[in-house]
Amino acid sequence: MALVSAKEMIDKAHAGHYAIPAFNTNNLEWTKSILAGIQEANSPSIIQVSEGAAKYMGGYKMVVDILTDLIDSMGITVPVALHLDHGTFDGAKKCIEVGFTSVMFDGSHFAIDENIAKSKEILELAHSKGISVECEVGGIGGTEDGVTSNGELADPAECKTIADLGVDFLAAGIGNIHGKYPANWAGLNFDRLAEIKAAINDKPIVLHGGSGIPFDQVHKAVTLGVSKVNINTELQLEFAAATRKYIEEGKDQEGKGYDPRKLLKPGFDAITAKVVELCKAYGSAGQA
Ligand code: 13P
Repeated sequence: MALVSAKEMIDKAHAGHYAIPAFNTNNLEWTKSILAGIQEANSPSIIQVSEGAAKYMGGYKMVVDILTDLIDSMGITVPVALHLDHGTFDGAKKCIEVGFTSVMFDGSHFAIDENIAKSKEILELAHSKGISVECEVGGIGGTEDGVTSNGELADPAECKTIADLGVDFLAAGIGNIHGKYPANWAGLNFDRLAEIKAAINDKPIVLHGGSGIPFDQVHKAVTLGVSKVNINTELQLEFAAATRKYIEEGKDQEGKGYDPRKLLKPGFDAITAKVVELCKAYGSAGQA
């Protein structure tokens, strides 16, 4: 199946009160492991890359080619969108050119007027090609790809201004944080989420920093308009733990256990299992 825009799957999830998972990938094998999981779960899904991950993988075009070829060779039948995560203005334009089917333009660090102007330009360009667009208002806490933002609560009036430009789904800070949540994390701010939902006329909302948010909070957020949940750190933790265990058990010393195809397999299997678990938890499993 060819890559699809994320709009239709997210609108469907929004109407059906579940969330589409958006899994960050980092290389060929992660992409393969995620695809195996979403196919097993029969879940429409988004595979996304940060600009840093795309660079690591060999460039935006390489990401498109890897995903397209794997979908073909693995016989993937569930709808998959390829999305740029936290795109810069130039990065989003480049991805639109080379075959991404969805882009995020993150202008949250610009003053609101500049965020509006740049979001508008990306929206026009992307929509002319049927590509879905996510924009962001208010930083998401934590550090990602070396970029740190202070997790503010997004201003509902600013959310409305950006949403009214015609974005397909809106990322808005509601106390969520990229990376591991600290033990004293206050949780999601549902009052602010409800205010944003009302201000943007119930447009789909994106929950960044999905790793480690208790499922009951995700479920409540879904009832308040969240329709896309981003997951990166959790897959990294699963991969690292499974690889560490394999080495600590000395399996890399047995036979040809150091062969990368053996050494890294437990990590890739752990990613697939986590993907299946999250698709079930978010309600997207069985929706393809
Ligand atoms: P986590 O790394 O916390 O899962 O966040 C992922 C994310 O929001 C990507 O934009």
